[in-house]
Amino acid sequence: MGTINHPDLQLALKDFLIEEEKLTQVVYRMTKEMKMGLSKETHARAAVKCFVTYVQDLPTGKERGKFLALDLGGSNFRVLLVIIRGDSDLQTESRTYVFPETLMTGTAKELFDFITECLVQFCRQFGLENEGLPLGFTFSFPCHQQGLSKGTLVAWTKGFRVEGVVGRNVVELLQEAITRRGEISVTVVALINDTVGTLLSTAYFNNNCRIGLIVGTGTNACYVEKTVNAECFEGYQTSPKPYMVINTEWGAFGDNGVLEFVRTPYDKVIDKETVNPGRQTFEKCISGMYMGEMVRLILIDMMAKGVMFRNESSEKLLQRGSFSTSYISDIESDAPGEYRMCNKVLHNLGLRGNQESDRLNLRYICEAVSSRSAKLCACGLVTLINKMNINEVAIAVDGSVYRYHPTYPSMLEHHMKKLLKPGVKFELVCSEDGSGRGAALAAATTVKNK
Ligand code: GLC
Repeated sequence: MGTINHPDLQLALKDFLIEEEKLTQVVYRMTKEMKMGLSKETHARAAVKCFVTYVQDLPTGKERGKFLALDLGGSNFRVLLVIIRGDSDLQTESRTYVFPETLMTGTAKELFDFITECLVQFCRQFGLENEGLPLGFTFSFPCHQQGLSKGTLVAWTKGFRVEGVVGRNVVELLQEAITRRGEISVTVVALINDTVGTLLSTAYFNNNCRIGLIVGTGTNACYVEKTVNAECFEGYQTSPKPYMVINTEWGAFGDNGVLEFVRTPYDKVIDKETVNPGRQTFEKCISGMYMGEMVRLILIDMMAKGVMFRNESSEKLLQRGSFSTSYISDIESDAPGEYRMCNKVLHNLGLRGNQESDRLNLRYICEAVSSRSAKLCACGLVTLINKMNINEVAIAVDGSVYRYHPTYPSMLEHHMKKLLKPGVKFELVCSEDGSGRGAALAAATTVKNK
């Protein structure tokens, strides 16, 4: 980052430039919180839940079959058909459906009927109505699983607040909706988180893969833990399988106050605006659902103080959510000293930005928000790598922020290297269609194990 000339802007962005000492402290605290989530005794009151996923095997490449998959929880809803022929031959057909925003705050029946409607359409299109296919459901919300095909929703995240789902088994809700509709023969056999899907789909090709990370609308990670440490799994001491994939749900890190030392006044405003105040503290500092809003809040603050875009006003910018997170990627994509994308963004917002310093300062704001996100995310990954105590690991990554922000992957790598013990090697691997392929691979293991 260059030099910020204005003292008010400098002051506003200072808290975003978290120094290394504090990052080490974040790792330390997160380690502690994760241990609380894993332990039977403390799980109930833990903020970072570390849910057991019932996925104990990574794909071997021997999986075979034809599967349906559903992917709900990001910005799109998708239905997929995945045909696994083995030997790295995974064929996918998919359709993305517009997810009506009203469904995010509607009722359980509306939500599951809509999902079923899309599934029926998809099956008709591919002539799969009567094939009796197994289905893997990627449901990217915190679930307390009681088996691979059973899990109750603990809380909604990412702006969802559908009535009548918390505390219910989502597999049952989906299966009931399919039965109610009565037009297709499909059995839901696996329920997985998107992080787990990401891990599985990459592990299929890369046998060093032990972590699945999402930095998109929300953020979360899963990792491979020793079964004996997964105390909330009833068979943790007797299971013949040495490993258990744990869905950390790290987005909730800090919900008990342990992250206050890195939060800024803007984080508090963001939190108040959300449908789940006080929840998903770490996620709200990192993920795409909140990054754009963070930039907007800083920007309107700077405008109110007369620091930027003096004598200009933007009605649009005063609306919540008007600064899309994709604008951050756009603005940071410009070569230094160039403002082609930045000008487009300003135009969308109805701003002129006659002074070059305005555009430069806007870039500084974006960089402050995105680099803090990458730093905190690096802390999370370092926590997991240290916890696994391994010297070499591949990390499967997906999500819009990671994919589309021009420097996010390199920032993440840079900060991880600074925080990791010397000699620990890691590789960030962008996962291809993790949610879809992963759900199919999870479904494949259930069919194989029968
Ligand atoms: C939210 C969800 C979590 C999901 C993540 C990424 O944090 O609670 O389950 O994995 O978003 O989509």
